[in-house]
Amino acid sequence: MPLYPAVDPIPLPAPIWLLKLLHIVTLALHFVAVEMLLGGLLLAVLLSLFSNSPLATVTARALARRLTVVMTYVINLGVPPLLFAQVLYGRALYTSSVLIGIYWISIIGILTLTYWLLYRFSARLEAGKSAWWVGLIAWLLAGSVARLLSTNMTLMLRPEVWRDMYSASSMGAYLPTGDPTLTPRWLLMMAGGLFIGGLWLVYLSGRSTFTADEKQFIARLGGKVAAGFGLVYLAAGFWASSVQPDAVKTGLVAHPLYKFAGFAGYGWGILVLIAVLLAAFAGFAKVSAGLSGLLGWSAVLLAVLVEITFTVYRDGVRDLTLLSKGYDVWDRVVVTNWGVVGLFLVLFIAGLGVVGWLISVVARAQKTMESVPQSPLENLQ
Ligand code: HEM
Repeated sequence: MPLYPAVDPIPLPAPIWLLKLLHIVTLALHFVAVEMLLGGLLLAVLLSLFSNSPLATVTARALARRLTVVMTYVINLGVPPLLFAQVLYGRALYTSSVLIGIYWISIIGILTLTYWLLYRFSARLEAGKSAWWVGLIAWLLAGSVARLLSTNMTLMLRPEVWRDMYSASSMGAYLPTGDPTLTPRWLLMMAGGLFIGGLWLVYLSGRSTFTADEKQFIARLGGKVAAGFGLVYLAAGFWASSVQPDAVKTGLVAHPLYKFAGFAGYGWGILVLIAVLLAAFAGFAKVSAGLSGLLGWSAVLLAVLVEITFTVYRDGVRDLTLLSKGYDVWDRVVVTNWGVVGLFLVLFIAGLGVVGWLISVVARAQKTMESVPQSPLENLQ
């Protein structure tokens, strides 16, 4: 009996390399936004819980104001990779999604609640009310969405357990157990949150809407958090790759792209280490006003590059795991519809142009100092 459902007889409308490229680029951007949400929210909660200093309050508020916007990026940058993943891996991904159907569909409700709580968190901070518990519930919910996504992305790689799961519950009410890769993979994403969240603070410390004292506080805090959790992130990366099956580990080292992107001292590891050094500099050295902007943009660039190499490597883990179980993602009939592909690319570039223009409008808008309480919908830069 075959492990996977029959392949769709309709051929793919674009080359597989193009679908994979778009998948990886959009997913890496989704991961940047996800890590900002997970890390930025936890930092804002901890600041509002443990510190009564005005500097901590301004920082927590500044993060909370931006988190509602970050959430829009999490969602909108999650849709494209979902579509590309369904095209490329539909036979595995649809099956695993159906098997955990009740939990999978519940993500929509959890997301809606999280989004609402982010607005409440920000509004309560602006009003000077106790807010940490609202933010903490939102963070726990976001972490549970991450857990469900990790659950599905690892279950899609285990066709050998699908039949037993379906026998145990055909309603999709049964969560899989016994996968040694699931928890390390989820914790890797959670650790990345504080690493990227710290880099985000390093970026924010270069913004002109903070006073000199606030800038120094934010750079010091962000630098220390990113440097410390960068090392945790590295350790979690090694853990997540060490629990992969032997065939996958061997394949990753043998493949030039995955080897270059990989965790074992190559692309990803080197980039995280460079970011740790940059963060330590921001966290411990006395940084001049002129340098803080450059440091901030370097932090942004490193965060994006780290997530791109991470996504390439993760893609290798998936392709090699599936290949070892008879699913070759490259083995599909392709009949490219170049007219549609061309139209898509034109619209894609135009869309990026519109987003760039929107960002430039926000950047040119009149700015209010961060220490002034605002409505949660203002000052979204
Ligand atoms: C609070 C909101 C969210 C969080 C915390 C979150 C977190 C995550 C995490 C941790 C992963 C990696 C899972 C793994 O491989 O171990 C992931 C993957 C993914 N997320 Fe999100 N996500 C969120 C919202 C969304 C939304 C709204 C969408 C789509 C509309 C989405 C689409 C995806 C897709 C498609 C993948 C995996 C794609 C692939 O492997 O090809 N996510 N997300």
